[in-house]
Formats: sequence, C-alpha cells, structure tokens
Amino acid sequence: MVLCGCRLAFPSFAMKKLLVAVAAASVWCAQADNFPSRPITLVVPFAAGGPTDRSARDLALALQKPLGTSVILIDNVAGAGGSIGANKVAKAAPNGYTLLFHHISMATMPALVRDIPFKVETDFEFLGMVSDVPMTLVGRTSLPAKNFKELLPWIARTKGRINLGHAGVGSASHLCGLMFQSAIQVDMTTVPYKGTAPAMADLMGGHIDLLCDQTTNTSAHIEAKRVIAYGVTTAKPLSTPALREVPTLQSQGLKGFEVTVWQGLYAPRGTPADVLAKINAALKLALKDPDFVKKQEALGAAVVTDQRVEPAEHRKFVMAELAKWSPILKAAGVYAD
Ligand code: MLT
Repeated sequence: MVLCGCRLAFPSFAMKKLLVAVAAASVWCAQADNFPSRPITLVVPFAAGGPTDRSARDLALALQKPLGTSVILIDNVAGAGGSIGANKVAKAAPNGYTLLFHHISMATMPALVRDIPFKVETDFEFLGMVSDVPMTLVGRTSLPAKNFKELLPWIARTKGRINLGHAGVGSASHLCGLMFQSAIQVDMTTVPYKGTAPAMADLMGGHIDLLCDQTTNTSAHIEAKRVIAYGVTTAKPLSTPALREVPTLQSQGLKGFEVTVWQGLYAPRGTPADVLAKINAALKLALKDPDFVKKQEALGAAVVTDQRVEPAEHRKFVMAELAKWSPILKAAGVYAD
C-alpha cells in the first residue's frame, strides 16, 4: 500500500513537473519554428534621422524579406550616449522580438564611462556585424576657417572657445571629438545631443562650430555644401563621389588619427539558439541585398563581407575592440566621467 501510495503520489507530482516542462518546451519550439510571428522591434539608441537610425532603417527593410516578416519597427531610445537604448535591450525578454542595432560605442563606452548599467560581454547575444562607417570632421559654413590648414590657427585664435557637438558621452561623435581635442591639445566646450541628427541641425543653423560624425550623416551635407568638411578619419581617402575630395586628417598632420564606426546587431542574452540562427541567416542575406549595399556605399559605408557576420567572430571582434580602445582612451586621459 505504502509503496503503491508512493507510486501514485510520486508520479502525480513528477508528472505535473514533466507536463509543465513539456508545455514550456513545446511553446519554446513553437516560438522558434514560427519566429517571427509578430512584429520585431529594432532598438536604435540614438535620435531618428541620424546615421545609426539611417543604417538601421535600411537594414530593417533588407531583413524583412529573408526573415519573412513585413514589420520591423524602429524604436529610437535615445539618450546617455546610446546606453539607455542598449540597456533596454539588455533587459528585454530574450525571444528575438527586441533587437539592438548599435555601433563602436559597445566597445568604447565601457572605457569612457566607468558606470554603465549593462555588461557588453555578458548581457547580449552577438548576431553579426553589418557595416564599417568612416567619420568626417565638419564645421558650420560661417566659420572663417574654410579648410583644415586654416582650422588649426583659427582654433588657436579662439583660445578653445569652440562648441563641439556630439551625441552624448560615450557616443561615436563624442569619441571622435575627444580624440580630436587630444590630438591638437585643445579643450573645447562639448555640447551633447540625443544623436547627431539634432547636432547636425544645430551645426547647419550655426549654433555650434564643429562636429565629428559618420559619413552616413555628413556626406549629403558635404556634397550640398551645407557644412565645411575638414577631413576624413580613415588612413586612405574615400572613393565615394561625395567624399573623394575630402583629405584624410592623417595626411593633414594628425598622425595616426583613425576611427571607423562599425555597426552590429544584438539580442538580449538567453535568446533561443534557433531564433538567433534564423536572424543571423536573414542578416547574411540582407548584407548581400544589392539595394542595401548600394545605399550604404553611396554614403561612404562599407557593408561587412568578412567573417564578422558570424556571431562568434562578431563577439571576438568586439572583445578585441574593447581591449584595443581601453588603453588608448586611458592613455589619452579622455574619461568622460
Ligand atoms: C547617431 O546616430 O546619432 C550617432 O551615431 C551617434 C554617435 O555619434 O554615436
């Protein structure tokens, strides 16, 4: 009896647990099989209309077909140099329906800001890299310095009374601005925005003096002469028609001045492997979409064609960038906090 009672009591408890586990597993399997069965939200951690937003919207379009969804919503969660948006995704449900499109700041923010609310190494799944985007140092058209040769004497004359815009502490434009100040040994007044879209609007309105921003935001304005281009942040000049006349900052005296803003796709840690695999497969197709490639190249960006599209290589690359930038930023004494 006792044995029998045990037998009856134990299976009923174990069975319940088993049924719960089976139900959970089948929901999980169904999720992975049907994914995506509802709209995906792609978080952009900067203001709408800026370079990150532009690349993310282009990518969202290119991802829709291979992912089999007509809806990828862009959520601009701007502020604190991109860390608010990144943190939102780090804390989101790990189901593939909330993704992050982010850039070099994933590797430079931890060196620039010592107290960020997420850990790049452990809070994200790496889904693959998307593109590499050079930057350009640009100025308002009313500046008396019409080229880089005239810029440094003008900066010296103003005794640093210069407003340099950026997209918040730890952002790419902040990093580039810090590198520029460090390279020429001048402290400027830095003016933070929620993205370089509003910073660019203020530059063109003459409210700030300088901005270092991605070519995906600057090239159209450079071409239309709405800003003065002082230099690109690559080792070699760019071949994009809008930018091919812009000399490198290195060739104009800023030795070793080089920064490229790489962009990548992330999911919250713990997202099921099948879902990650589906997104990565779609990403690989999206990066070969001729429309997507053409749009990025026209703005000076290079779509990733190498191994960094593989999640493991993406992770490896970001970890290497973390290791690369920390000592550079520390040596330059450019902590933001
Ligand atoms: C933006 O999209 O506004 C910029 O990429 C921000 C930045 O400079 O990091």
